[in-house]
Amino acid sequence: MIKLNTNHLLNTVDFTKYHDAINVINEGINKMTGLGNDYLGWADWPINYDKDEFALIKKTAHHIQSNYDTLVVTGIGGSYLGARAAIEAIKGLFPQKGVEIIFLGHTFSPTLTKQTLEYLKDKNFAINVISKSGTTTETSIAFRLLKKLLIEKVGEKKANQAIFATTDPKGGALRKLSNINNYTTFTLPPNIGGRYSVLTAVGLLPLAVAGINIDDLMAGAKLARQESIHNLNHDLYKYAMIRDYMYRHNYKSELYVVYEPQYAMFNEWLKQLYGESEGKDKKGLFPTSVTFSTDLHSLGQFIQDGSPILFETILYVNEPLLDIEIPYEAENLDELNYLAGKKLSYVNKQAFLGTLSAHVNEGKVPNLVFEIEKLDTFTLGYMFYFFMRSCAVSAYLLEINPFNQPGVEVYKKNMFQLLGKPGY
Ligand code: PA5
Repeated sequence: MIKLNTNHLLNTVDFTKYHDAINVINEGINKMTGLGNDYLGWADWPINYDKDEFALIKKTAHHIQSNYDTLVVTGIGGSYLGARAAIEAIKGLFPQKGVEIIFLGHTFSPTLTKQTLEYLKDKNFAINVISKSGTTTETSIAFRLLKKLLIEKVGEKKANQAIFATTDPKGGALRKLSNINNYTTFTLPPNIGGRYSVLTAVGLLPLAVAGINIDDLMAGAKLARQESIHNLNHDLYKYAMIRDYMYRHNYKSELYVVYEPQYAMFNEWLKQLYGESEGKDKKGLFPTSVTFSTDLHSLGQFIQDGSPILFETILYVNEPLLDIEIPYEAENLDELNYLAGKKLSYVNKQAFLGTLSAHVNEGKVPNLVFEIEKLDTFTLGYMFYFFMRSCAVSAYLLEINPFNQPGVEVYKKNMFQLLGKPGY
């Protein structure tokens, strides 16, 4: 599905040195005994997922497609990034057909919130509010505003029918609200944390509404699980070992690189996954990202010649979703006729190859390349599982619990004090 090319790493990792540690870590995942084991539910999810709920997701998606023109997905962090990453990766940034999916609840931005609400005034929209805790402030405020608009537009009864909530099966404010108002609900299993939840209803409902085949997505994830659980030579373990090696050899930042803007949100998903899982106890690689060639005209200079603190991890997709040929012009005033008749994908690929050589051979920046022939839904499901498992292994190599995020609470406490929230 995806192939890890280590030829440009400029470092030789002795994988045999890691064998015993990886073996113990993998057993800890398979037997659900590793650190933070209450949150290892994602590991067997591709075979254990709730088939009844899966069927309900498909049925509900069909209902939304038949009755609404827009779905507002309302969530933040793990309750947001996976769905957006997947929809953009599969459908591109300007999909012309189907239900329009827009996102809110991931920001306090007054401007974006107000503009989104204005935009929705003339739309026949439904809401998928996603929050495991049900108390996340960004999401709760956005939901309150969206709900108000919807009730003003269609009345309370129809509004309640147009709200679909994904939350904890029992507890939390959103579950309570859903029970009172009879929203259709979906479950975020208690043993799966936000950033490991893209293959649950959190990701599946928005994806299915967007017209993405969620059977294919789960099949891809299932293959990644099946291939890797008993095979320590799998690339996902190699990737975790390489990250660990680089971290211990003074590369403190990993730069995710894509060559299509439609994959930029996948970078964001990776950054959250790795940053929130690993960045603890003053340890962990700092994950950051760029989209080339755009960012070659901004950060490219630093990457080539700046402080040698980072290595690059490139996700290179060979076959684009769409392609276009560069036209011939008789005048040739822009001097582009040497490219006439060539596809833009060809130019993008030469940019990739030229940059790889510049960064590695001249800049001496270690590069890892994930070669992906085509990023279809099956491959994406495979990638989601691949990176989640690899991330857990990577955090365990640093002796870190991958599934908590104690540091995130500090800003919240301060903000709540400043806002005068009762109890703070
Ligand atoms: O990965 C995580 O656990 C977090 O990023 C959460 O997903 C995020 O904070 C949103 O939380 P909730 O779903 O409770 O609103």
